[in-house]
Amino acid sequence: MEGVIDALTRNLLTRKAGFDWTVTEFVRVVDARLPPRVFYKHCPELQTLLAATPSGVPVHLQLLGSDPQALAANARQALSLGALSIDLNFGCPAKLVNRHDGGASLLRRPERVYAAVKAVFDAVGEQIPVTAKIRLGFSDRRLAIACAQAAEAGGACQLVVHGRTRDEGYRPPAHWEWIGKIRHRVKIPVVANGDIWTLEDYWKARTLSGCRDVMLGRSALADPWLAPRIRHWQRTGARLPETTWPMRAGVLKEYACLQRQHLPERIVTSLVKQWLAQMRQGNADAERHFQRVKRITDLTTLLDALVVEAPTHRAPVHEPKM
Ligand SMILES: Cc1cc2nc3c(=O)[nH]c(=O)nc-3n(C[C@H](O)[C@H](O)[C@H](O)COP(=O)(O)O)c2cc1C
Repeated sequence: MEGVIDALTRNLLTRKAGFDWTVTEFVRVVDARLPPRVFYKHCPELQTLLAATPSGVPVHLQLLGSDPQALAANARQALSLGALSIDLNFGCPAKLVNRHDGGASLLRRPERVYAAVKAVFDAVGEQIPVTAKIRLGFSDRRLAIACAQAAEAGGACQLVVHGRTRDEGYRPPAHWEWIGKIRHRVKIPVVANGDIWTLEDYWKARTLSGCRDVMLGRSALADPWLAPRIRHWQRTGARLPETTWPMRAGVLKEYACLQRQHLPERIVTSLVKQWLAQMRQGNADAERHFQRVKRITDLTTLLDALVVEAPTHRAPVHEPKM
């Protein structure tokens, strides 16, 4: 996830069994072949770990762009640097990205989704898998199935579907039943994505979409134990206990420890607050701690404040936003 999940976050989130694979932030492709340093920045795991997290969970490299030839050239470049697979982003709703003809803007023309996937498939598809991520459409869902079929026809071997249109942004609900409609109309595996915050959401998303697999976005940050909880339930039918505040604070401290090895403390302070902000979703402890620390600018003071009990009379639980 652009701006919020980097290699260190992937490292921390995959330490406990739960995720089958992860994806990089998108690499923005315009018209040129990008130099290796851009790929290494987005996916440092290419250099050190054969494109996997330290726990061995594969990291898929995501490209975002609209020019088929430029996407193909960059897919080749990524392959030459050791990428294990290429994922194409047709879901990004950002105005700037869409204005420059990237992300979800291609969902208005399924033939453009096809052309992008086909070019990348022709370039690297014999060596590594090509996958795609879509939303249900740009302004409405009329082309949802056509876009999914276009990605499949172009050579995608898996499709992640975020169950909202671009115009719906991140507003709940995600339409899991629509992901099911798409699943019925393509042969490749479809992965359901959007608003899976709890084990109960996971069950509902699977039931309504009929998908075997789901992708976690913001909730992976909101509750770093959600993927392990899902995995544990799959394996044992039992429920892991809820994630406590000390568990969350422990992840944030470890994250700070890793980040401060190569980033200035000022930036690490913002990053820790950014992750804490994501943890507020449905969690009153995180909300209380966020309110308490949001103006702290010193990293050590911030980390110390995370382990002090926050007063309980503060603001209500943060509602889903974006
Ligand atoms: C800040 C932010 C950055 C994101 N960056 C990416 C990205 O780079 N690539 C991508 O495929 N999806 C990206 N997404 C979308 C998520 O992967 C996911 O599809 C979306 O948030 C819905 O799932 P969720 O409700 O589980 O978060 C991003 C979402 C957010 C909120």
